[in-house]
Amino acid sequence: MANMTELVHARRSVRTFDGRTIDPTDTEKLIAFMEKIENPYGIPVTFQLLDAQKQGLSSPVIMGTELYVGAKVERVPHAEEAFGYSFERFVLYAQSLGIGTVWIAGTLDRPAFERAMALGEKEMMLCVSPLGYASERMSLRENVMRKAIHADSRLPFEALFFDGSFEKPLTEQAAGKLLKPLEAVRWAPSAVNRQPWRAVADSDAVHFYLRRKKGAAPPAASDIQKVDLGIALCHFALCAEENGLHVRFEIKKPSIPTDADTEYIASYSLVS
Ligand SMILES: Cc1cc2nc3c(=O)[nH]c(=O)nc-3n(C[C@H](O)[C@H](O)[C@H](O)COP(=O)(O)O)c2cc1C
Repeated sequence: MANMTELVHARRSVRTFDGRTIDPTDTEKLIAFMEKIENPYGIPVTFQLLDAQKQGLSSPVIMGTELYVGAKVERVPHAEEAFGYSFERFVLYAQSLGIGTVWIAGTLDRPAFERAMALGEKEMMLCVSPLGYASERMSLRENVMRKAIHADSRLPFEALFFDGSFEKPLTEQAAGKLLKPLEAVRWAPSAVNRQPWRAVADSDAVHFYLRRKKGAAPPAASDIQKVDLGIALCHFALCAEENGLHVRFEIKKPSIPTDADTEYIASYSLVS
């Protein structure tokens, strides 16, 4: 399989597809892969391929494909982060086969998708994605959308990552071996490109946090920004291992002071 760091940088959301159906051997590979995806929370995420035409599914931002993938998870603590990790694992695998995806949480006929996924009362279908080959030209709607949310840019490295405490930004020069895995976090997709992930690196661990908009309360039901954090953890772990860093997942809140808008999520300790 292609290098994870390259896949992370090559990925972009694809909303306009060229109409070709996916090569059947690749469909088989996707199915085989989705059945064995794991995440560090050990929470099962169940995937299913969906046929938009047969199952009456639609998304107003998607053109040129009938194939979708949906996934669901039981409503348990950390389900959102687990979902984010597992679904991004799938997205990167699809990318390695040249198959385009886009995370869709809001712009879809949700009741129809949830029916097609046979969603149980205790389950959440946080996102779906279309699957297909990217069209050479984006639809006008996709173009306008990307510009409106500045989809091609990200916050500066020093605004996302910190050195020992939130008081001290981490520079690219000081990041050392963490540079590539943290750059992979920086280029992760996030809902409305909000980039809520923050990380504090100390000598033997990297601690991940969710920074909400000032004064914003966490949502009562499914917390989509925690899905974004799961994606960030996935990018970090896959690219760390590939770049010679051994990491171990932990949920152990460090004694680093945070403001009221910042919530601890999880850490990767660096194992020598
Ligand atoms: C959890 C999540 C939910 C998203 N929901 C939608 C959506 O409902 N509709 C959509 O068109 N894009 C959606 N996106 C895609 C983001 O807008 C996109 O990832 C971001 O703008 C960055 O662009 P890029 O993926 O091309 O790097 C979602 C992304 C994530 C991670």
